[in-house]
Amino acid sequence: MAAIIVENLQKSYRVFRKPSGFRGTLQSLFHREFTTVHAVRNVGFRIEPGEIVAFLGPNGAGKTTTLKLLAGLVYPTAGTATVLGHVPWLRETAYRRRFSLVMGQKNQLWWDLPAIESFQLHREIYRIEPDHYQRRLDELTSLLEVTKLIRQPVRELSLGERMRMELIAALLHDPEVLFLDEPTIGLDVVSQRKVQEFLRYYQAERKMTVLLTSHYMKDVEALCRRAIIISHGQIRHDGPLEEILDRFSSQKWIQLQFANGAMPEDLERFGKVTELKPPRVKLEVPRTQIPEILSALLSRYAIEDVGVQERPLEEVIAEFFTSDDCAEDLPTRDTVGAK
Ligand SMILES: Nc1ncnc2c1ncn2[C@@H]1O[C@H](COP(=O)(O)OP(=O)(O)OP(=O)(O)O)[C@@H](O)[C@H]1O
Ligand SMILES: [Mg+2]
Repeated sequence: MAAIIVENLQKSYRVFRKPSGFRGTLQSLFHREFTTVHAVRNVGFRIEPGEIVAFLGPNGAGKTTTLKLLAGLVYPTAGTATVLGHVPWLRETAYRRRFSLVMGQKNQLWWDLPAIESFQLHREIYRIEPDHYQRRLDELTSLLEVTKLIRQPVRELSLGERMRMELIAALLHDPEVLFLDEPTIGLDVVSQRKVQEFLRYYQAERKMTVLLTSHYMKDVEALCRRAIIISHGQIRHDGPLEEILDRFSSQKWIQLQFANGAMPEDLERFGKVTELKPPRVKLEVPRTQIPEILSALLSRYAIEDVGVQERPLEEVIAEFFTSDDCAEDLPTRDTVGAK
């Protein structure tokens, strides 16, 4: 059975819209205008046990809302979901012990206390057996290289160190399902890579089912083979990452380094110049025309070095977000007047 099953899931928020200015304030005393925000509309997908899936979409697409629904933090407006057979918003203790939600934007540890005290609290809450707790704690702190820092108040830690502590807290009770909402947000490249490497290793070891949102495509490339893309609260794509790359990567990059003084002026003839740092240049060209363009360039000019590159996933996904598939003009807000 699938670990996560989501069907027609919807979440709308009713928000009060205060008109601007003094007149507006006065008017709103008698006539309140509400707007319905459809954060998630008709979302459906299935995730198999042990899968690690990227959940991607532009700002405001509904990613965090979906994860909050699956973690049982908010009730849906309509639809169903089960995670490991549990309906998340029933908030059964049995379910709580089987999953974790990590939010990069939110601090879940006690700010003024050393992380170890939050970990101990977790041990109590999740009733983790002491030996098991100690083994898991030792393993996680050493994998994440923070053993020496667990007795230091959390507020004194760097963002990267704090994020690693958040991950430890989330993993102490051996969750089978892990929801990661932007776990590397704001981290420097080195910390980002450490978190990626850790997650990759740990997921492979423990075969957790993982749903990951991130705006950093490096995370996605490092960890996921399948991506679900959401926009305006609706799923736009669900499949292998390569499919998106294939479909939206009709262009590739040719990198050239010209021999001294051989840099031609009319490079635009061969493709779109995306970077110009003489004697180096980067051309964006249609994938299918690479052989002819390359041979034309090589026969005409003295070229020292040449390379063909895929466009970075970042660019491809950005293109996907602005494509017709994604940018359909859907009203996500309805305005309703109420007395
Ligand atoms: N509690 C709330 N009350 C009203 N509207 C909300 C609430 N939470 C989310 N929304 C709205 O729902 C929509 C989806 O928000 P959500 O946080 O799920 O997006 P997201 O995909 O996580 O975006 P981001 O990439 O910026 O984190 C947005 O338009 C947001 O303003
Ligand atoms: Mg979000």
